[in-house]
Amino acid sequence: MADLLYYGLDWLALLLRWTHLIVGIAWIGASFYFVWLDDHLQPPSSDLAKKGVSGELWAVHGGGFYNPQKYMQAPKNLPANLHWFYWEAYSTFLTGFALFALTYLMNPSGFLIDAKVANLTPTVAVILALGFLVVGWLVYDGICRLLGSRKNGDLLVAICQAVFVVVASVVACKLFAGRAAFLIIGAMLGTIMAANVFFWIIPGQRKILATMRSGGTPDPLHSAIAKQRSVHNTYFTLPVLFAMTSNHFVVLTGNSLNWLLLVMMIFAGALVRRYFVERHRGKPNPLWIAISVALVLVTAVIAAPKNFGGRSNSAELSLARDIRPILEERCVACHSGPASPKQIDLTDSATILSNAQIIYQQVFVLKAMPQNNATDMTDEERQKIAQWFDKGAKP
Ligand code: HEC
Repeated sequence: MADLLYYGLDWLALLLRWTHLIVGIAWIGASFYFVWLDDHLQPPSSDLAKKGVSGELWAVHGGGFYNPQKYMQAPKNLPANLHWFYWEAYSTFLTGFALFALTYLMNPSGFLIDAKVANLTPTVAVILALGFLVVGWLVYDGICRLLGSRKNGDLLVAICQAVFVVVASVVACKLFAGRAAFLIIGAMLGTIMAANVFFWIIPGQRKILATMRSGGTPDPLHSAIAKQRSVHNTYFTLPVLFAMTSNHFVVLTGNSLNWLLLVMMIFAGALVRRYFVERHRGKPNPLWIAISVALVLVTAVIAAPKNFGGRSNSAELSLARDIRPILEERCVACHSGPASPKQIDLTDSATILSNAQIIYQQVFVLKAMPQNNATDMTDEERQKIAQWFDKGAKP
């Protein structure tokens, strides 16, 4: 029975991941499309302006012509069939949270905790991870409420949110295994985006409609807040995608300055989004942004601390005599048999030889394996692997 359960759980994780991608793409696609629309609107003809239209555009797609029009205030007569966009956001959050719970929260010892980062108990790790999602939203929302309507509110909010993201990234990287820290920051920002839709954007739109149906004039504040939260969401999108998909790359998550790399990449993601927003607004090539993104990336690659280490001597080592015993002791606990991670069965000489480069890369260059150094591999052993690889990975 237990076997069937664990078999089923793996399928569930896979199907949840797929669904999460499907609905996430639907959400981001719709959201990018509307930002694009807003930024391409042209002044309306006088006929349209009389109807209350503030901007329109023409587009051709899939063999048809489209002519969207935006009303600054709501139209005088509400259409019978009004499309809403919220299930994309809610289902992305729900599938993402389920996946997070299934993978990380159900296996805190394997996924959340790295004793060399912080020696948390499983319960504390789970509470802290959930805390990031809840507290993250409360802090973000608090900043918007407190500063959003002041003079220069947008700028003040942006600065405070940036500081908040930096602090959260540092704290996450000092509490959790690197891989979990990246995912948790991504999940925190993703939660904020979905909560913006749930708590502000959709309720604001509902209030506007309710006022209109009862014959009143809607308070423009609802539109202003919804627009502000939408703008934040657009700048969070690419950082979230980065944080979610980069966490298998130990080159980032395992770095001693992983929090700084995460912050730099979040910043680069927001800039990439800015690049496209400026292009939509008619600046054909916002060069300063392209250069800034390139600078951030080059700095991250070059300045990230690297810990390659040297080789202990230059003797020729053989797999059977020198390397197999090391792998037996440090790796086969996880990597043996057909169910080995990534199908790398380290009890099999042919597999070891055909994967020599990736083994060298994972063990010596990136220090990604053994995972979280669970088997206490020593530096000398890592050097031996490098030496063996240097001399052509002989059997
Ligand atoms: C605690 C369990 C564990 C130990 C010990 C361990 N690994 Fe792994 N290994 C994994 C897991 C889990 C993955 C898959 C990681 C992923 O999906 O990102 C993996 C992946 C790999 C990969 C593929 C990496 C990739 O991205 O394609 C290689 C190569 C590897 N391990 C080599 C080793 C070597 C060599 C050792 C011993 C020095 C070792 N592992 C020890 C759990 C372990």
